[in-house]
Amino acid sequence: MSLLEDLRSALGEGGVIEGETLAARTTSDMSGTGTSLPRAVLRPRSTAQLSAIMKLCHAAGAPVIPQGGLTGLAGGANAAGNAFSVSLELLRGIEEVDQASATMVVKAGTPLEDCQRAAVENGLFLALDLGSRGSCQIGGNLSTNAGGIRVIRYGMAREQVLGLEVVLADGTILSSMNRMLKNNAGYDLKHLFIGSEGTLGIITRAVLRLHPPPGEITTVLCAVQRYEDVVALLRRAQSVLGGILAFEAMWRDYFAFNTQALKLRVFEGSHPFCVILESTMPVDDIETFLAACLEDQLIQDALVARSHAQAREMWSVREGHPIEVLPNLLNFDVSLPIGQIGGYAEACTAALLARWPQAHVSFYGHVGDSNVHICVGTHYGPGEDMHDVDEIVYRVLGNYHGSISAEHGIGTLKRPYLHLSRSPEELALMRSLKQALDPKGILNPGKVI
Ligand code: LAC
Ligand code: ZN
Repeated sequence: MSLLEDLRSALGEGGVIEGETLAARTTSDMSGTGTSLPRAVLRPRSTAQLSAIMKLCHAAGAPVIPQGGLTGLAGGANAAGNAFSVSLELLRGIEEVDQASATMVVKAGTPLEDCQRAAVENGLFLALDLGSRGSCQIGGNLSTNAGGIRVIRYGMAREQVLGLEVVLADGTILSSMNRMLKNNAGYDLKHLFIGSEGTLGIITRAVLRLHPPPGEITTVLCAVQRYEDVVALLRRAQSVLGGILAFEAMWRDYFAFNTQALKLRVFEGSHPFCVILESTMPVDDIETFLAACLEDQLIQDALVARSHAQAREMWSVREGHPIEVLPNLLNFDVSLPIGQIGGYAEACTAALLARWPQAHVSFYGHVGDSNVHICVGTHYGPGEDMHDVDEIVYRVLGNYHGSISAEHGIGTLKRPYLHLSRSPEELALMRSLKQALDPKGILNPGKVI
């Protein structure tokens, strides 16, 4: 039998999608940079089925590319014509919510929003949240160590995981479904797979750590004059309002572009920075805090959302989908010490505009986590492409010892630049780990390292 026939019989009806029925959406993640259809899409319904197909692919030396909700932005899940895509979409569902240990057992293909909802239905809270919650899958969130808007309070995806089940390149099932907060019995292997973007193993199930519900969340938008004041506002909010749940900044051009496109009028006039912050303190206390900040001129204006709809409106500006219409839009994801983000933004803007005076360059992001996103939209001249933009953004970043990826990962798009953020010794150890876990190089080849 051929490999494809073996795979068809291992997965049963509907388990292999090929030929005409391959949807174009399996070619690329949301970066839009993938161009090839996969050889076929393999859809296991169970860990055992995934193990069986990995044994077959391993024996044949056939490359496989794991795919979740395809909401990544680094090209990490882009298909390749010589590789099978492994979609986790049929390995879906919540197996258990354990209120005593405040944990949830989920299958990898479950949409993040379903996991969040199940936690709430059980009086608990899953702290991972990001804009693509409706379409991203928890397995993809974990394999990319997703960040999102709650990191400032609860940490990244990595911090929400207690246990993991993974299928290795040769089909071995590694079950590490720990439920305890403390477990120092040797190496914590799950962290090898979280954030390695499917290059070391394929996540099939996870034990997630849940939290008590944070309480009623109030969303506030503040107008700020200087970057120094954005940082001062963060520290003051943290000390006066307790653990805030989100702190996101938008630079003037980002805010203006999106509010205009969404036809929203938020503040009178325009301000260099707008900040969204979320707190669970009583609204009266939040208003007292804002009045004091206004009095001290730390902020120029403030708006407290009075309804869920109003809070959603503020977040819609922050999520910034209108900006996606810009020509050749690139979305960077860098991190650097929080006090230096303002200076970096100025230097980076100047360097980009010196090369492309008509370009759109704007900044926004999870500044409270020392993470800023950069939107660059420009028309290229002859012989130019996105790599010319990369070079400038990362060259300026080098002066600040920042990271080329705070949360989106390396995928294919940032692979040429990984050496800017990792030392030769770190890269050598990454290669040793890859060699040890995937000696034939069949797992997501060409990604990350
Ligand atoms: C965000 C994505 C781009 O923060 O990471 O909106
Ligand atoms: Zn982000």
